[in-house]
Amino acid sequence: MRTDYCGNINSSYIGQTVTLCGWVNRSRDLGGVIFLDLRDREGVVQVVFDPDLVEVFNTANSLRNEFCVQLSGEVRARPSGQVNKDMSTGEIEMLGKSLTILNKAAPLPLDWNQENSEEQRLKYRYLDLRRPLMSDRLKFRAKVTSTVRSYLENDGFLDIETPILTKATPEGARDYLVPSRTHKGQFFALPQSPQLFKQLLMMSGMDKYYQIVKCFRDEDLRADRQPEFTQIDIETTFLDAGGVMAITEGLIRNLFQKMLSVDLGDFPSMTYADAMRRYGSDKPDLRNPLELTDIADLLKDVEFKVFSGPANDAKGRVAVIRVPGGAKLSRKQIDDYGKFVGIYGAKGLAWMKVNDIDAGMEGLQSPILKFLTEDVAKGILERSGAQSGDILLFGADNNTVVTEALGALRLKLGEDLDLLEGKWKPLWVVDFPMFEEFDGQFHALHHPFTAPRDMTPDELAANPAGALSNAYDMVLNGCELGGGSVRIHQQDMQAKVFSLLGISDEEAEVKFGFLLEALKFGAPPHAGLAFGLDRLVMLMTGATSIRDVMAFPKTNTAACPLTNAPGEANPEQLKELSIQTVIEKKTD
Ligand code: AMO
Ligand code: AMP
Repeated sequence: MRTDYCGNINSSYIGQTVTLCGWVNRSRDLGGVIFLDLRDREGVVQVVFDPDLVEVFNTANSLRNEFCVQLSGEVRARPSGQVNKDMSTGEIEMLGKSLTILNKAAPLPLDWNQENSEEQRLKYRYLDLRRPLMSDRLKFRAKVTSTVRSYLENDGFLDIETPILTKATPEGARDYLVPSRTHKGQFFALPQSPQLFKQLLMMSGMDKYYQIVKCFRDEDLRADRQPEFTQIDIETTFLDAGGVMAITEGLIRNLFQKMLSVDLGDFPSMTYADAMRRYGSDKPDLRNPLELTDIADLLKDVEFKVFSGPANDAKGRVAVIRVPGGAKLSRKQIDDYGKFVGIYGAKGLAWMKVNDIDAGMEGLQSPILKFLTEDVAKGILERSGAQSGDILLFGADNNTVVTEALGALRLKLGEDLDLLEGKWKPLWVVDFPMFEEFDGQFHALHHPFTAPRDMTPDELAANPAGALSNAYDMVLNGCELGGGSVRIHQQDMQAKVFSLLGISDEEAEVKFGFLLEALKFGAPPHAGLAFGLDRLVMLMTGATSIRDVMAFPKTNTAACPLTNAPGEANPEQLKELSIQTVIEKKTD
């Protein structure tokens, strides 16, 4: 039906007749001459209709936005003065010679001249995706996946599919369940990741596996989380953590080079403990120069209990953020930051303005100054590197509250005060604790198949709280882009980890018996990683939500306004599945 894409026509076509198909982006009558902007996936071209060509002119006159048309015409140079440097087709225009309306369009439910609600954009997603911004993102995403594929395939990775109807894979979220018709009362779980299958593929000798694969997690959603999302999933045999990190870092570096002409350089590495201590986060945004400084040791003897309490408690933390130039913050701004840290459980936000660093106590302004001796104040100033014009913001509480509150405050200050430096700041976070403890129980910080660092099963059992895992996360600009680990490949270690996680032998047998068995037959050492493709594309395109780089995402309540999914199943289907729904009736 066509010879070319609209967006590809340029001055090399001058004098040629081409046929295009696309949508009416805009059509306007300028003093008897009709100008049409015709759009397809590749861009927009300007078409001019001359009133002398009566039939075509009349058809052009009837065009409305988003009509789908086929058009033939001659490419000619734009008159000088009308060249549009912002358009790839801006040096030329077409003289319309024939025009067929392939389909009319009703008035659009989206107004592209204004911000449409996300609900409406998702309901009419096929129209929203006609916008160049959206189609460009999907085109970019397609190029990312093809670049990833060729990089990994060049490195000997095999693309192998794994089941979607499967057993639960614990990655920390709820499972999506699918009832089985043939096994009544039983359910498949959709994979939270292909974790166990990729490990089994290593045990079958596939050596290097990758897959660009959908994962399903029923969890609370936010800008960088969707119930179904895509991983670039990777697993290798006979490589240690450093080997996997080198391959995956190379993959991302290559991608940024090819797609954005950006050299990310070598990624620095930081331990989890340092990340939490200095940045209050296990995915620090290194574009933000603010840091947390620990000062508990300076405050053990002060009379201000808010500080001396946590300073003398092994589980407490007292830390300060120095904000360069922050002395200009108003009381209202400081109070607002106090409310902000309250979200994370902080009971207050003590502050100290450094008006003149050389004037001793006189140069300081703070509601807590009366509680501090000159020596203590001096110690805090020195430790934090304070200068005249700065403000210090204090957190004192248990370790978790202070770390989370100041970690979040650091990010907020970075945004509010426009402090971010540099465009891309990747890093590796390593040496995670093997377990986190809450509700009196150990939980795997990564997943239960992650190997501890340099420990026998007995050593692990002797000190589970102090054990480090052989896991690594790749972080970019404060976003967890990917995570992986060296896996447990020995049955006794796997059994020990299950038991430390409170999984009984019986439960382990029911849930993971196949894995424990597979580990008995010469399972090789193996390790891998998975990237969140949606997050990667979001960062690379500058989008602010992964929904904007997915063709058909779900809302924050995990629904699809386009198809109205999820919906009720019909009674026949439910009967076949031996399922009855029980819905609590609302009482007024
Ligand atoms: P993990 O659970 O860290 O590891 O997931 C890997 C990466 O997937 C992305 N991601 C998500 N993206 C969008 N929406 C979500 N709900 C979501 N959840 C995770 C993140 C994350 O870094 N099997 C292991 C990997 C391994 O050990 O090899 C796993 O799934 O970018
Ligand atoms: P108060 O004596 O309770 O009025 O507190 C004096 C200052 O300390 C105020 O600026 C409070 O916001 C701050 N503050 C109170 N509790 C904490 C805390 N746990 N961490 C940091 N600052 C606090």
